[in-house]
Amino acid sequence: MKNPYLPLPMRLEKNFIETEDKNIRTFTLSFINKEDEENFKYMPGQFAEVCVFGKGEAPFGIASSPTEPGKLVFSVMKVGKVTTALHEMNEGSILGVRGPLGNYYPLEEFEGKNLVIIGGGFAFTTLRSTITYILDEKNRDRFGKLTVIYGARNPGLLLYKDELAAWEKRDDIELITTIDREAPGWTGRVGFIPAVTEQVAPSAENTYAVVCGPPVMIKFTLPILEKLGFPPERIVNSLENRMKCGIGMCGRCNVGNKYVCKDGPVFTLAQLQQLPGEY
Ligand SMILES: Cc1cc2nc3c(=O)[nH]c(=O)nc-3n(C[C@H](O)[C@H](O)[C@H](O)COP(=O)(O)OP(=O)(O)OC[C@H]3O[C@@H](n4cnc5c(N)ncnc54)[C@H](O)[C@@H]3O)c2cc1C
Ligand code: FES
Repeated sequence: MKNPYLPLPMRLEKNFIETEDKNIRTFTLSFINKEDEENFKYMPGQFAEVCVFGKGEAPFGIASSPTEPGKLVFSVMKVGKVTTALHEMNEGSILGVRGPLGNYYPLEEFEGKNLVIIGGGFAFTTLRSTITYILDEKNRDRFGKLTVIYGARNPGLLLYKDELAAWEKRDDIELITTIDREAPGWTGRVGFIPAVTEQVAPSAENTYAVVCGPPVMIKFTLPILEKLGFPPERIVNSLENRMKCGIGMCGRCNVGNKYVCKDGPVFTLAQLQQLPGEY
């Protein structure tokens, strides 16, 4: 049996600054072994443990989509030991990846439905994966109206700016970006995500809501969605509890009797309401 702790070797193809504060970088990795690439089947919402040899490993949401074969993309905020080591890695370096881990957004259930995707901060990574997946020409017809509400503290902290600009030009996605406070040069919407969601007031009819972001954003957005008529079974969240093994072995990520790494990180609000409120 394959050792689940053994990372696959990958090459760092690109490492670039994503945000103006230089705290978030985006990493593009390619598989070194063709066989690993063929076996690494993932879906939007899953994560992987990225290992910097000699420093340790940390979980990150996969920002690329399975519709973009041959590479894995992660956007990583520098906060501590592993993330700082990652930020300092040169292109061409070898690192390790364990995954794909966790469950994923229930895209089969989303088929034929409208979607409202609501994201904040670096948690937008797995939402980028989902949006890219849905917008792929092979998949777009399987889903209804796509609305994306994406917020950041200031314009410089918005991720994937080139893609946001490209999405804005398309007529099969409604993109609403917002920042917390007025900023020089920003002509778009200003306001916190829960308030903007209430203003946009997406119809709950035949619609799923997907929410991913910092706990405070989730806390205030969920009641708005319920007020708009979204039932808890059609509100889908992704949790980012602290993790170590990522495979249900170490007990680091539990909420009640659930392992966020193995049973999640994706849970509907209906599922979360069955768990103790410690997530
Ligand atoms: C499923 C999942 C997906 C994630 N996706 C991303 C992603 O796409 N991009 C990204 O930048 N980060 C993501 N994270 C968070 C990332 O895993 C942590 O930032 C990383 O583990 C920090 O490692 P470090 O060694 O640099 O920090 P450490 O040296 O271990 O810690 C530095 C500081 O950060 C705090 N910290 C570390 N991890 C967490 C956490 N999960 N929650 C709250 N505080 C924490 C520590 O308490 C400490 O204060 C994700 C986490 C999970 C569980
Ligand atoms: S991270 Fe080890 S049990 Fe979930």
